[in-house]
Amino acid sequence: MSAHSPAPAEAGARRADRGAFSGRTSFIFAAIGSAVGLGNIWRFPAVAYENGGGAFILPYLVALLTAGIPLLFLDYAIGHRWRGSAPAAWRRFRRWTEFIGWWQVLIALVIALYYALILAWATNYMIFSLDQRWGDDPNAFFGQYTQALSGTDVHISFDVVPAVLVSMVVVWIATIVVMALGVQKGISASSVVFIPLLVIMFVILVIRALFLPGAIDGLEALFRPHWAALLSPGVWVAAYGQIFFSLSVAFGIMLTYSSYLKKRTDLTGSGLVVGFANSGFEILCGIGVFSALGFMAQAQGVQVSEVVSSGIGLAFIAFPAIISEAPAGALIGVLFFGSLVLAGFTSLISIVEVVIAAIQDKFGLSRISSTLWVCVPLAVVSTALFSTTMGMPLLDVLDKWVNEYGIVAAALVSTIVVTYVVRGLPTLRDHLDHRGTFPIGRWWLVCVGLIAPVVLGVSLVSSTISLVTSPTTYSGYPGWFIVVFGWLMALALLVAGIVLSLLPWPATSNLFKDDSDGDPIAPEVVAGQGLEARADAATPHELRSPAGRV
Ligand code: PFF
Repeated sequence: MSAHSPAPAEAGARRADRGAFSGRTSFIFAAIGSAVGLGNIWRFPAVAYENGGGAFILPYLVALLTAGIPLLFLDYAIGHRWRGSAPAAWRRFRRWTEFIGWWQVLIALVIALYYALILAWATNYMIFSLDQRWGDDPNAFFGQYTQALSGTDVHISFDVVPAVLVSMVVVWIATIVVMALGVQKGISASSVVFIPLLVIMFVILVIRALFLPGAIDGLEALFRPHWAALLSPGVWVAAYGQIFFSLSVAFGIMLTYSSYLKKRTDLTGSGLVVGFANSGFEILCGIGVFSALGFMAQAQGVQVSEVVSSGIGLAFIAFPAIISEAPAGALIGVLFFGSLVLAGFTSLISIVEVVIAAIQDKFGLSRISSTLWVCVPLAVVSTALFSTTMGMPLLDVLDKWVNEYGIVAAALVSTIVVTYVVRGLPTLRDHLDHRGTFPIGRWWLVCVGLIAPVVLGVSLVSSTISLVTSPTTYSGYPGWFIVVFGWLMALALLVAGIVLSLLPWPATSNLFKDDSDGDPIAPEVVAGQGLEARADAATPHELRSPAGRV
């Protein structure tokens, strides 16, 4: 307990009961579990291929070092210093920035709703790959299996698809169990088991794929460098976009997770481990996926470029075709869909935790009650909306807008607010440096205050231009569907975030309590002021700004 702690009796009564990671390793596994997700497996390979192949490594690494890791540190610093869920931590950082926290919570809520659907499909496909139930037309099979409406036929529909319903229920039950077990025994323990298992499964998959005929052509297609691509701004925006998404920065996740870390922790060293582990796995995914695509191109007698796909098309149409053609296809199927399930599950729990932590802080609830209050309604709504024939188009639109106008916009607003409006970077820098492996120095300020907002702003503008000037609506859906579930939904998240930040916090909430160790919460930032170095400070939380000393 620090020198600033109140008397023990009083501290016991006022201590928040939020749960904690038992140590740095638990945190690192949970953070890698969140970062390693579908973005690695089904997004990175195609993004790299389309944006310069081997040459993409350069913008990708630059994006990792100048934006991914610096923004990860920003999330860590806010969550760790102010020891709360996104709304509580932002509010303690500076009262009026609480809306950013609620905005992140609502974004997380929407992602959780649809993410469970992808996991449900992957779970079913793991079973389907045992007998290759898709026969010789995986495309048609996926259509029959999901019974998804498409294009202009899309409408509000509650026609349930039973096979999807059953596995969505299974996914939600598993999620509720893990979340109810809490931060250490649920979130961390599942990542500690699932992440190594995922790596083992994926490595076996990669080795198997590398020995398929044509694999080398696939790798050649992925890694052949197109240096001229480096001159195209779009390639750089794609690299930053991939890094932001892949590292789960600005989702509120890393902020929430770091609030469960012990106060004496090396934040910057942990961030580097998470950042490089995620990118390492991402490159492994590129190798596995392109070896398999090279095999498929050879089997069909076409160029690799003709079989490249990403997202749902890659996982549920291309991979089933590969599984059917390859020797020992069932093994490849179980490994591939099993990997999707494991990677997706550890990401789903991280996104649900953002919401649970916020409700727990707001009402001062126990772990079990906050889990049930959040997860039961979430599971019911998610299953009711997404196990229907409109599930897939709804997922498609929500995902597009919530990423581009939710996460990217929230990241842009938060970097600008922190850097220029509140001028909080010096405090955050000194907090990170207190026990960090290395001093983050001035480059961090430039990355968070300049490079990140510029790139985020450019990508926001460029995606708006391409959406607005496109001759057809997104995926050919009816205009009203895009307006309601795309534009209005994204705007509603921001507006609702602002409204939620205006509601008072009940007296029982965690906002008015000490942290889980019984220590008081650090005061708000003082604009433009760093923290005074103090040799006797055991934790960065004890450091104060000169003008903000208590
Ligand atoms: N970093 C994750 C990924 O690469 O898939 C991004 C993510 C998506 C995290 C969805 C959490 C989530 F629910």
